[in-house]
Amino acid sequence: MAQQTDFIVIGSGIAGLRASIALASAGSQVTVLTKAKASDSNTEWAQGGVAVVLSDDDNAELHEDDTLEAGAGLCDEQAVETLVTEGTKYILELIDWGTEFDREGGKLVFTQEAAHSRRRILHAGGDSTGKEIVRALIARARQETTINLLPFADTEKLLINDRRCVGVRYADPILKSPRDIFAKAVVLCTGGAGQLYLHSTNPPGATGDGIAMAYFAGAEIADMEFVQFHPTALSVKNAPRFLLSEAMRGEGGVLRNAHGERFMSKYDDRLEMAPRDIVSRSIVREMRRTGTRNVYLDMTSKTEEFLVSRFPAISKTCAYYGLDISKDMLPVSPASHYCMGGVRTDLWGRTTIPGLYAAGEVTCTGVHGANRLASNSLLEGLVFGARAGEAAASDSLNIQVEESSDETSSYGSLSAKVSTAVRKRVKRGMWEWVGIMRDEESLSRAYAEFRQISRAKLSNASRNFVTNALLVARAALWRKESRGGHFRSDYPERSDELRVHSIQEGDKEIDSAPRISF
Ligand code: SIN
Repeated sequence: MAQQTDFIVIGSGIAGLRASIALASAGSQVTVLTKAKASDSNTEWAQGGVAVVLSDDDNAELHEDDTLEAGAGLCDEQAVETLVTEGTKYILELIDWGTEFDREGGKLVFTQEAAHSRRRILHAGGDSTGKEIVRALIARARQETTINLLPFADTEKLLINDRRCVGVRYADPILKSPRDIFAKAVVLCTGGAGQLYLHSTNPPGATGDGIAMAYFAGAEIADMEFVQFHPTALSVKNAPRFLLSEAMRGEGGVLRNAHGERFMSKYDDRLEMAPRDIVSRSIVREMRRTGTRNVYLDMTSKTEEFLVSRFPAISKTCAYYGLDISKDMLPVSPASHYCMGGVRTDLWGRTTIPGLYAAGEVTCTGVHGANRLASNSLLEGLVFGARAGEAAASDSLNIQVEESSDETSSYGSLSAKVSTAVRKRVKRGMWEWVGIMRDEESLSRAYAEFRQISRAKLSNASRNFVTNALLVARAALWRKESRGGHFRSDYPERSDELRVHSIQEGDKEIDSAPRISF
């Protein structure tokens, strides 16, 4: 039995919650489908903070310049301007809604992260920024009686009718069977695909379903080759790659190799505060040079008292693994962290499919270019989540919900999870062949492997997962240069001719677009 609502939002991170609030404020019924609990999202795991222009020595131009510089020539300037100028308003609104960012003597405190020319990162609970933002947004969303949160509902595909997105097919957690729900429009806020890699800082749900579903629906997917690897994930055998926030280096942490030598001066004048792609590659080179599996983050110049209050969650997790962050060298290595590419949108979250909007990490708005500036992603989710919600509401004023779609396949069996075999093969292939450093040979091997996997009979979830891998490998093969998060050891330089976005759409050959606004 099909259901109807005014709007469907998929995902309950910062973008999904903010989009839902915008839609409900416009008087609509909103159904929010989310894979796990409403609070389980990439946002919830965000430690370091949110970049915003609010301190006395900062201004929007400086934030814009830093973002453009990090983006290595591929940012959309209008998108960046929108982010930094509207960001302040939306953060003040979040504070108004009860978000408690850390303060000293009543004044907001700002930390430093790599490639920022100012201390402009707000944080909460020391290193639990995302958790506090999600808490405040869920509380705000609960005041809207027209928002219906539906947890543990995996979305399997988008429903299209005559080229318009009209709903989704999802795994109903109560009926334990697939079900269709129809709406005036759908807003995708499903987050990124960090779980494609063997080592990732992302939660288990970051499997890129939104990107694949949009691709199968015919939407344009941009810049998938740009993957950000975070330099400092805790590297303890058999433990998940827990993030050791960049703010730790911002507060004075240094990196040392297996011989105890501080090594970043060999690679970049900005030392530990160089952009993430540079620090990650420097760590890999140092690990190869010394024949080790990790380097070390050294926080011993800071007092225990400072570290425990500034980084409470990190101190606790490290202690669980027998590490005292004020005394021990902390073993770290890079892990996949953020996808710069995704579903191509305009400045209002509109994708190339009418009725389908998107916001947050699932998108490529042009804000991040080839490399995201640290702590810009929560801001992006907030600003573009609100804008996508507003645009979906106003664009749909004359749209009626209709229960009809082009979908011909019957409901298959309930198989909303990626199979273990597919997960293992994809994760290993992505890590070994499509990782921090790639080349023609490794990428071709990866592409062939993922093609072979995709030819088998797969559940929708497994097909979505391997499709993300194919999209990344294909774009990385196509981009014969190194730029931002994409480093080809066979093409180590940046090429002016390739200052374009990679666009993938259906079965067409990979294409390029010089600009992202449309
Ligand atoms: C961190 O805390 O290092 C992550 C912040 C980010 O990815 O923006």
